[in-house]
Amino acid sequence: MDFKEKRILITGAAGFIGSNLTDDLLEKGAVVIGIDNLFNGRLENLSGAFKNSNFEFHKGDVRDLNFLLDVFKDVDIVYHFAAFSSVPLSIEMPANCNDVNVNGVLNVLNAARKENVDKIIYSSSSSVYGDILALPVREDMPRVPISPYGASKLACEAYMHAFHHVYGLKTISLRYFNVFGPRQKDSPYSGVIAIWLGNILRNEDLTINGDGTISRDYTYIKDVIQANLLAAEYDTGGEIFNIGAESPISLTDLANLMLKLTSKSNLKIYYSDPRPGDIIHSYADITAAKQKLQFDPKYNQEQGLLDYFKWYNFTYKTNLKISP
Ligand SMILES: NC(=O)c1ccc[n+]([C@@H]2O[C@H](COP(=O)([O-])OP(=O)(O)OC[C@H]3O[C@@H](n4cnc5c(N)ncnc54)[C@H](O)[C@@H]3O)[C@@H](O)[C@H]2O)c1
Repeated sequence: MDFKEKRILITGAAGFIGSNLTDDLLEKGAVVIGIDNLFNGRLENLSGAFKNSNFEFHKGDVRDLNFLLDVFKDVDIVYHFAAFSSVPLSIEMPANCNDVNVNGVLNVLNAARKENVDKIIYSSSSSVYGDILALPVREDMPRVPISPYGASKLACEAYMHAFHHVYGLKTISLRYFNVFGPRQKDSPYSGVIAIWLGNILRNEDLTINGDGTISRDYTYIKDVIQANLLAAEYDTGGEIFNIGAESPISLTDLANLMLKLTSKSNLKIYYSDPRPGDIIHSYADITAAKQKLQFDPKYNQEQGLLDYFKWYNFTYKTNLKISP
């Protein structure tokens, strides 16, 4: 798609994935309207975007319908990333998670309908599957979430589909499998790669929750951005696509890989209790995205980690010794 002059609204623009897509779309000549309540996002993530005259930012909440009606005027495409995005935090605050995710998506859909937005692209999650035993998981397999976060993402997908069915809105949901890369927050509530990179930079040992055999299909941010760009041109009928890397790795292997790539094999790996709500294995079948969206992931975990570490060294002037 030619994004030049397209008016694209990104909810959660100050967050990890939203800010990366913002930069990419601005580079492609789009006009980007970013919104975020800064609950978890950082304006620092948008420092490049603020230098571009095609970017505007509005601080606001997706639970505020009047705010959305205001900013959705003359918008072509909405990318909906704003969310209560942490599994552990959703266990501490299930009602807040539901409020932001489910009421947020309903507001986004209602505002999009009223303002005649052409397409809404939703960020769903592999957490909708729960502990499914058949791997890799396909989109039509049972969805049995085991965390309030996963349950809320499944409800949001259902609303996306229902609004397509009833109002003819062009909606599409992308189920990401553990995204990692630049700007992911190093906090106890975020993804393990960002947490371990923080440990490595501080010369701390790594801790694995559980026995280290649980596995994830870690997907590099640049492949997730690719999927989002492809979704913009797909003639959607309310569909849902898995977006993964097709290369699952156990937590023990991932920890060892990160230590090897950063020349920190002197650091130790410790094991602690498993975290409630964590899925045991997660591995995407991405045949549908390949066939229908022409999705073509370019990064396995090692390539993604190397790209991420190089970005980190460049951006924060750190001197991680990176050795492939
Ligand atoms: N990162 C992953 O591994 C992953 C995996 C699967 C799905 N997802 C989904 O992708 C989306 C983006 O995830 P992320 O990792 O960038 O998370 P993030 O937390 O970095 O970004 C979410 C953004 O939404 C904002 N936000 C939260 N509540 C809001 C509200 N009420 N109104 C307006 N803004 C609000 C936050 O401040 C933050 O900037 C989320 O929907 C998440 O559920 C992420």
